[in-house]
Amino acid sequence: MLEIDKIRSDFPILKTNVHGKPLVYLDNAATTHKPSAVIERVLDYYTRQNSNIHRGVHYLSEQASELYESARETVRTFINAPKREEIIFTRGTTESINLISHSYGAAFVQPGDDIIITQMEHHSNLVPWQVMCESKGAALKVIPVDDGGQLDLDAFDAMVTEKTRLVAMAYVSNALGIVNPVEQVIGRAHSHDVPVLIDAAQAVQHMPLDVTSLDCDFLVFSGHKMYAETGIGVLYGKERWLDAMPPYQLGGGMIRNVHLDKTTYAELPFKFEAGTGNIAAAISLAAAIDYLQGIGLAAVRDHEDGLIRAAVEKIGSHQKVSLYGNGARRCGVISFNLENAHPYDVGMVMDKMGIAVRTGLHCAEPLMDRLGIHGTVRASVAVYNTHKEIDRLFAGIRKASELLCSD
Ligand code: ALA
Repeated sequence: MLEIDKIRSDFPILKTNVHGKPLVYLDNAATTHKPSAVIERVLDYYTRQNSNIHRGVHYLSEQASELYESARETVRTFINAPKREEIIFTRGTTESINLISHSYGAAFVQPGDDIIITQMEHHSNLVPWQVMCESKGAALKVIPVDDGGQLDLDAFDAMVTEKTRLVAMAYVSNALGIVNPVEQVIGRAHSHDVPVLIDAAQAVQHMPLDVTSLDCDFLVFSGHKMYAETGIGVLYGKERWLDAMPPYQLGGGMIRNVHLDKTTYAELPFKFEAGTGNIAAAISLAAAIDYLQGIGLAAVRDHEDGLIRAAVEKIGSHQKVSLYGNGARRCGVISFNLENAHPYDVGMVMDKMGIAVRTGLHCAEPLMDRLGIHGTVRASVAVYNTHKEIDRLFAGIRKASELLCSD
C-alpha cells in the first residue's frame, strides 16, 4: 500500500482549486506534475552548480558535467541498459524517434525496403517513418488493430519479409491505454533479424521496465510524463546500431576533430548530442527516477492498476458510456465517449467541476479512423491519484450525461 497522503503532499500543485473545486488532475498521459524533490533539485542546480558541461576545466563546469553524467547513469540503471554509451539525451520522445528515423534510415534503409508500425501509433511514431519511407522509396506497413484495439499479430507475421528493416511500436497506447504484447513482437521480429523500437512514453512511468530482458533494439521516452521537467527525453539504443548510424545534428560537442576539409565524430553517446543539451532537465530526470524508485515501480503499478480497474468498473457500467479497448490489458489510461456528446463538451463540463481530462484525437488520428470515431475523452492516472478522484470523475460523467445526452 502506498502512503498516498504523503505522496500527495510531495506535489504542491495538487492543492490548487479549479473553479472553486479541488483539482482532480487526470491528464497525466499528457504531462505529470512535479514533486518538490524535482523542483528543489532544479532550483539547487541553478543556485549552486549552473555551468556548461564537458567544456571547461573550471570547478562549476566539472560539477555540472558530473551531475549530467551521473543522470545518464541513473537512467541506465533505471532501464537496465548494458552500457552508459547507449543512453542518449534528447528533447523528448518525439526527438528520439526523429533521430532514429533519420540516422537509422540513412544507414540501413534502401528503396524497396519496408518499415512496420501499428495502427495505434502516436503521430510522433508515425509521421517520421512515413516521411523517411517516402524520401527513401521504402514502404510503410501497418499492423492493423481489431475493434477492441488489439494488434493482429497474424497480420504482422504475414508482413515481415527480408525487406523489413525495423518495427516501431508503442508499448502502451497513449489514446486507449492498451498494453501491447511487445515481448511477442520483439521475439517474432528477431527471428527474422529485424530490430524493434519501443515507444515507452506511456509505459516507463507505470511499471518496472528492463531493456536487457526485453531485448528491444531501441527504446524511447520523455521526462515530463514521468515527473521530470519538459525538454528532456531518452533514446536507448543497442551500441551496434548506434555505432553504425550517422549523427543526427552536427555542431559542437559531437565532434572529435574539425579541420576545414574534414570532421571526425565523437564516441557514443556524444556523437548524438550536438549543442548544449537541457542540463537542468537531465538532472531533474535523475531526481524524478530517484523519487519513483523511492516509492517502487511495482507499488506504483499496483496502485495505478487498482485505479484503472475501479474506473473501468464504474464508468463501464454507465448506460450512456462507450469504453474503448475492452478486453485488453490497460495501463494508466481509460478512454470513453458519452452517447451523442462531443468529447470536447464532456471535457468542458468536467473542467467546470475541477476535473482535468484530455479530449480529442490524442495525436492518434489513424486509430480514431479505425474505430470510426472523432475522438474520445481520456482520463489518465499517476501515482498521486486516489479512488476518491475516480469517484469524482464518475460524478463528472453523470453530470455531463444529464446535461449533454438526450433521452
Ligand atoms: N503525447 C501526449 C498525450 O498523449 C501529449 O497526451
